[in-house]
Amino acid sequence: MRLLFIGDIVGKPGRDLLRQGLPGLVECHQIDFVIANAENSAGGFGITREIGEQILDLGVDVMTSGNHIWDKKEALDYIGTEPRLLRPANYPAGVPGNGGYLARSRDGRSVGVISLMGRVFMLNIDDPFSVVLREIDRLRERARIIFVDFHAEATSEKLAMGWYLDGKVSAVVGTHTHVQTADERILPKGTAYLTDAGMTGPHDSIIGVEVEAALGRFLTALPARFETATANPRLNAVIVEADDRTGLATDIERIQYSADELHDLGRSVLDTPERSARGARERERISAAAGSPARVLGGLGCPSGVGHRANK
Ligand SMILES: [Fe+2]
Ligand SMILES: [Fe+2]
Repeated sequence: MRLLFIGDIVGKPGRDLLRQGLPGLVECHQIDFVIANAENSAGGFGITREIGEQILDLGVDVMTSGNHIWDKKEALDYIGTEPRLLRPANYPAGVPGNGGYLARSRDGRSVGVISLMGRVFMLNIDDPFSVVLREIDRLRERARIIFVDFHAEATSEKLAMGWYLDGKVSAVVGTHTHVQTADERILPKGTAYLTDAGMTGPHDSIIGVEVEAALGRFLTALPARFETATANPRLNAVIVEADDRTGLATDIERIQYSADELHDLGRSVLDTPERSARGARERERISAAAGSPARVLGGLGCPSGVGHRANK
């Protein structure tokens, strides 16, 4: 099973990247199941029903979230009607929505997804370490493959969760900082780990916000209206391959694509490459442009953007 997890989708630039790039990514990287963090998908703050439906229509199977999930008030109602939208599982009892979901891939395989939030430099909600074990137990009866999005600020807390769940889930991948880390690995007992998947949105920004406004807050401490930036949109994500029998990871690869790279990727794999000479030339061109890190999957040239991979 090959899972694609997309780092926090920020506003329209993030959604546009998804629209433009997801079909090509799924095809090129032979993805079976797509998870995306959608906590910033509506103007950088929260999610609406309309935007949630758009993201699902684009091919995302399950949406995770974090501290921004409630920024748009309608999320309180929406989450009660859409089980494929998760809020962190360790919000106190009685909060709308769920933090875990048992899904099925297009070919009928079960996948468990858990959304979880850290407490260091964040809201003091319930203990994520005890809550996650309950969620795993609940999903384990039906799914070998379990993916955990740990939405947290502190690297130490994220690493602690990775080691805590090593051997118990397929992957622990962090979100929230909006900056992709370079520490992808498979832990000794078989859990894929990455401290932060990064952000799918405008990268000429301060974690998605216009530089002037966010910098001004640091310089003056005065309140400022934060607008989502637009420049340099990039998709940040990670691909985890897990063994269907054991649920443990066999490969992890983090990826980053600019809008142009996604466009080229889509053209190369979706223009019926086997049948089109133009498609073949495109594949060659993209592989050459990507240089040595380019990998070949299923006979298709499929560059990783500037990402890297580590396998067992
Ligand atoms: Fe975020
Ligand atoms: Fe967050």
